[in-house]
Amino acid sequence: MRFFIDTANIEEIKEANELGVICGVTTNPSLIAKEGRDFIEVVKEISTIVDGPISAEVISLDHKGMVEEADKLSKIHKNIVIKLPMTLEGLKATKILSQKGIKTNVTLIFSATQALLAARAGATYVSPFVGRLDDIGQDGLSLIEEIVDIFNVNAIETEIIVASVRNSIHVAQAARMGADIATVPYKVITQMTKHPLTDKGIENFLKDWEGASLKL
Ligand code: E4P
Repeated sequence: MRFFIDTANIEEIKEANELGVICGVTTNPSLIAKEGRDFIEVVKEISTIVDGPISAEVISLDHKGMVEEADKLSKIHKNIVIKLPMTLEGLKATKILSQKGIKTNVTLIFSATQALLAARAGATYVSPFVGRLDDIGQDGLSLIEEIVDIFNVNAIETEIIVASVRNSIHVAQAARMGADIATVPYKVITQMTKHPLTDKGIENFLKDWEGASLKL
């Protein structure tokens, strides 16, 4: 499993990039709005930090509008991936963009058949939302398992980005199932680094070292 960071916050992206664990970024209109800055400027700045796929989402609801926005966004940088909603119009736009050689990420996937259709329309990535399914009492991770199986059995090359990740259990389970990528908020990345026994271990090593009056 590879990791993208799910944010439009420049500081978080820089921090995560320094850790060497991320190879892409996903944004969405809510994450962009939270930053209160010009959309194009934010995406441009992200592309100077991370050398990997950067998802920028369209706002239009009709496929012509989506394609127009995609043409504008894809000119920002070669790494821009156009994020499209899983709708009939989104599928039409996915097909057109894939024929033009523009990479796409079909988002707001909540069922295996949505993922399969997006893949058949030519999506480079599909983004099933685990946390939002958990929020309504459904099992988000079992959707990941289902999509991984379907894509494997049918030799589908579209990559699965596990989205709406809320904790490190989501990440570990999805990695075990064979999902290609998890897009993870900065908070979850830091959570993934932590274990109380690691902290305790460091504390004990230092205490023993200092007690022996050794020098490095
Ligand atoms: C995915 O690409 C989305 O940006 C994101 O994962 C949504 O997550 P949320 O449910 O925490 O808003």
